[in-house]
Amino acid sequence: MTIAFIGTGNMGGAIVRGLIKSGTCLPEEIICTAKTQATLDKIRGYNACIRTTTNNSEAVAEADIVVLAVKPWLINQVMEEIHPKLKLNKQIIVSVAAGVTLKDLAEMAGNDSTFFRVIPNTAVEALCGVTFIAHQGASQEQVDEVQRLFATLGYALVVDEKLIPAGTALASCGIAFAMRYIRAAMAGGVELGFRPEEAARIVEHTVKGAATLLLESCEHPEVAIDRVTTAGGITIKGLNAMEESGFTTAVIDGLKASMV
Ligand SMILES: NC(=O)c1ccc[n+]([C@@H]2O[C@H](COP(=O)([O-])OP(=O)(O)OC[C@H]3O[C@@H](n4cnc5c(N)ncnc54)[C@H](OP(=O)(O)O)[C@@H]3O)[C@@H](O)[C@H]2O)c1
Repeated sequence: MTIAFIGTGNMGGAIVRGLIKSGTCLPEEIICTAKTQATLDKIRGYNACIRTTTNNSEAVAEADIVVLAVKPWLINQVMEEIHPKLKLNKQIIVSVAAGVTLKDLAEMAGNDSTFFRVIPNTAVEALCGVTFIAHQGASQEQVDEVQRLFATLGYALVVDEKLIPAGTALASCGIAFAMRYIRAAMAGGVELGFRPEEAARIVEHTVKGAATLLLESCEHPEVAIDRVTTAGGITIKGLNAMEESGFTTAVIDGLKASMV
């Protein structure tokens, strides 16, 4: 299987590194393009066997899957460029561009074409990403293939396209939201007496521990919280003080503000 990445920046690069790290693809099976040679040198610095070119048409010609990972406003231009070389009845075309809908893609390439609109988050590189997959006109076999591919990079779910903006807020922006909690807890940890780097590792492992406990038990967070909350104890005092400062409301407001 050959996968061409049109654009190998933050997101394209993260997927490429994830696919190689997980053993899903051999580096030789990946062709990357970018605007500049410097970006291609960077990805070859990760693995020298990755094939690279600045010629998008050349890259898509022999690909089974084409991933469009340029900025949203460049999708149209790139599509015009590669369109003559695409084999729309054979190749799987995946766009990761935020805000570019299946309808937009169909208008660019023809209404009867098959497209995937995929929104991964940057944790795909660490193989614990979240990826939302919507499609137009794909066979069940193609849907399974794309879901299998992204499931090697974490959690991948097929959704109705109308849920993509909510998914983007929850999982793509959500990475930054979770990191902001980590930063806030680190600052608190330093005030309580830990050195910054100690506080960072403590909070990172605490958050990872909380997520792992929930993933393994499938418990509702409140049930798990009850288990560590003694009546009249210090945890409930901390939780209540956070809620008094608007913790839950702030998170929900942030998610709603991030909807595109
Ligand atoms: N970052 C995220 O968390 C995230 C999440 C979900 C979806 N996305 C989507 O992913 C897409 C890429 O975002 P990004 O953050 O990865 O942007 P980025 O870091 O700027 O990467 C864009 C890449 O496109 C390349 N490029 C520009 N013009 C090109 C052309 N004509 N032909 C081929 N490649 C070209 C750039 O090359 P040079 O490096 O040489 O300039 C760069 O490698 C966006 O559509 C975004 O909406 C991002």
